[in-house]
Amino acid sequence: MLGTLLLTAPAAHAADTPLRDLGTAKGKVIGTAVTGAKLTGSYGDIAGAQFSSLTPGNAMKWGSVEPTRGSFNWAEADQIVEFAEAHGQQVRGHTLVWHSQNPSWLTNGSWTSAQLGTLLDDHIATEVGRYKGRIAAWDVVNEPFNEDGTYRSTLWYNGLGSGYIARALTAARAADPAAKLYINDYNVEGVNAKSTALYNLVKSLKEQGVPIDGVGLQAHLILGQVPSTLQQNIQRFADLGVDVAITELDIRMALPADTAKLAQQKADYKAVTAACVAVSRCVNLTVWGFTDSDSWVDSTFPGYGAATPYDANYAPKPAYYGIAEALGGTTTPPPTGACTATYSVPSQWNTGFTGNVTISCSGASLSSWKVTWTYGAGQQITQAWNATCTQSGAAVSCVNASYNGTVPDGGSVSFGFNANWSGSNPVPTVTLG
Ligand code: XIL
Repeated sequence: MLGTLLLTAPAAHAADTPLRDLGTAKGKVIGTAVTGAKLTGSYGDIAGAQFSSLTPGNAMKWGSVEPTRGSFNWAEADQIVEFAEAHGQQVRGHTLVWHSQNPSWLTNGSWTSAQLGTLLDDHIATEVGRYKGRIAAWDVVNEPFNEDGTYRSTLWYNGLGSGYIARALTAARAADPAAKLYINDYNVEGVNAKSTALYNLVKSLKEQGVPIDGVGLQAHLILGQVPSTLQQNIQRFADLGVDVAITELDIRMALPADTAKLAQQKADYKAVTAACVAVSRCVNLTVWGFTDSDSWVDSTFPGYGAATPYDANYAPKPAYYGIAEALGGTTTPPPTGACTATYSVPSQWNTGFTGNVTISCSGASLSSWKVTWTYGAGQQITQAWNATCTQSGAAVSCVNASYNGTVPDGGSVSFGFNANWSGSNPVPTVTLG
């Protein structure tokens, strides 16, 4: 016999200005990585309403589009591009030349340098050509550097030397002259050896007249570790004459999440967004999945998760409001968790019963409380303990005693009462608030 009212933040905040509109007002495109099969229901609604750019999380990688040599599968990539066009969104193409998620026929083959070069040229001509005019920006080359700033040893580097980067950019420009061409990497958000190597590469490409329009800073970050030099680093690339995009932002925390970690995550998301807002050539800020139910983090970094701006039930987290605030939004975040009141009848006899109400909090807390309900069958409270209860007609209102108003995150408080009944004793719906 339980009557429960769950007090939670509503999953959608229709009155809040969508991130994409806040971004537009600041001259920023706000994006998310997506999984094509999920673009329906709440996931599709949020992806379409909140973001002005989509990046296929996996659908445009070589291993996805050409699993067997000469046999192509464009279904998911096409679907995402069509969804974006239907929602007035840009698409970031991701990614053409990488060491990972390549088809096994490619990685297991043994190729001469000339063959590799032709494979690279043909792949870029085929994929970029297919979507010509429909992709705002391509991550042409992904993750070319080691942490110390040397070139990563890959199929491409080992076969073609560092010239594979200029070759890929040139091929991409030929296939779609309108698309912005990027080099994208991780751990290049702050000023460090790796980002300096990227800086020097971009500088040299520009000096040689190789087409390069932007750099992507992936930004797979750890809670509390936004690099202090992020804005300075964005600015130095902008000063070279290229655009900058935050391409894969997520901020992971050790699980379980709690109120303090979610507050820190909000601050971190806000700091990253603010750094992009501060530099006019930072043109796009994309999260790598917008919901914790569609993030690569949990499976990639064991023990870590909760890295995105929406929880797994599509409720915006404090992180969402961190992005919104940095974009000039003025919304107030809802409580991050919930407190609930549960009514039960531990014992009942011929004309009387003992009732109990327990108030529990998870991800939220209370410093005082009031629980109300309306009896449906003439029940009458005679005595209460651990609360002050008043009854007027059928309406009951119970407030905390002086000593038990606090319900901590993860804690609970109970009060009890005796009451009379006759005929029937239905459980009322209780309201906490
Ligand atoms: C990740 C995807 O999100 C996962 O689903 C997949 O299993 C592995 O790749 N850097 C990148 C992205 O450039 O393509 C990666 O995406 C995350 C790291």
